[in-house]
Amino acid sequence: MLKNRTALVTGATQGIGRAIADRLAAAGANIVVHGIEPDAAGAKIAAEIASAHGVRAVYVRADLADEKEAGGLVARAEAALAPLGILVNNAGIQHTCPVETFPVDKWNAILAINLSSAFHTMKAAVPGMRARRYGRIVNIASVHGLVASVNKAAYLAAKHGLVGLSKGVALETAADGITVNCICPGWTDTAIIAPQIEARAAERGGDREAGIRDLLREKQPNLTLLPPARIGDVAVFLCSEAAAGITGASLPVDGGWTAQ
Ligand SMILES: NC(=O)c1ccc[n+]([C@@H]2O[C@H](COP(=O)([O-])OP(=O)(O)OC[C@H]3O[C@@H](n4cnc5c(N)ncnc54)[C@H](O)[C@@H]3O)[C@@H](O)[C@H]2O)c1
Repeated sequence: MLKNRTALVTGATQGIGRAIADRLAAAGANIVVHGIEPDAAGAKIAAEIASAHGVRAVYVRADLADEKEAGGLVARAEAALAPLGILVNNAGIQHTCPVETFPVDKWNAILAINLSSAFHTMKAAVPGMRARRYGRIVNIASVHGLVASVNKAAYLAAKHGLVGLSKGVALETAADGITVNCICPGWTDTAIIAPQIEARAAERGGDREAGIRDLLREKQPNLTLLPPARIGDVAVFLCSEAAAGITGASLPVDGGWTAQ
C-alpha cells in the first residue's frame, strides 16, 4: 500500500514510534528511523525493520531539544534515503508536577521536543511535499491535546499547541495533496508512563498492577493499556488512500477517555 514511499518517524527506536515504523514498513514504506541513541544502536534497529519487512531503512540521530538539529533533520533524512512522502512527529517527553513548582528547564524541554520540533520538521518537509504534490504528516499528540489532567502544565501546552499547529498546516497545504493530522492516544503501554505507574503503585503499597488499574479506572473506560501497535495501525490508515480526504483532524485512540 505504501510501497515506494519514504517515511521519517521521530523517536522511532522504542515505544509508539517503533510500532509506527514497523507498521509503516509492513505496509511497504521505506523508513528513516530517528532517535537519540548512538549510531550503532540505531543502525541495529533500522536493520531489524529492514529485514523484517523487506524494505530499506536507515538511522539518523538528532537531539530534537536543539533547534538546529530539529531544523536539519528532514534534509539529513532525505539525503540518507529519499525525498519524504510521510513525516511522523512522534518524539516526546513528560514531566508531572504542580504548576507552582514546575521546573523551568522541564517546561522548556517539553515545549522544544513535543511541540517546536514538529514545527521545524514540518517547515522543512512541506516545500518538497508540495512540489511533489504528495504528503502525509501524522503528529502524535495525546488525549492531553484535547482535554486536561492535573500536574501536566507543559505537556498540555505542548500537545494542545500541536493540535492547533497541525490544523493550521493542514489548511495551508490542503490543496497541495498533503494531509496533516494528529493521533491522540490515551494510556499506551510504553516507557513514558512508567513514572506515573510507579507513583500510583507506591500509593497502593508497591503493587504495580493495582497502580495501572487505578490509573485506567480514573480515565480510560476500556480499562486496558493500549498496545503501541494500535497507534501504528491508525498511522498507516492516515497515510493510506482511504484517508486522503481527512486533514486537520485529531483522532482520539483512547479507549473512550475523551468521550466522557
Ligand atoms: N504512552 C502513552 O500513554 C502516550 C499517550 C499519549 C501520547 N503519547 C505520545 O506518544 C509519543 C511517543 O511516546 P511513547 O509513549 O512511545 O514513549 P517513549 O518514551 O517510549 O518514546 C519517546 C521517544 O521520544 C524520543 N525522544 C525523547 N527525547 C528526545 C530528544 N531530545 N530528541 C529526540 N528524540 C527524543 C525517545 O528517544 C523515544 O524514542 C510521545 O509524543 C508521547 O507524548 C504517549
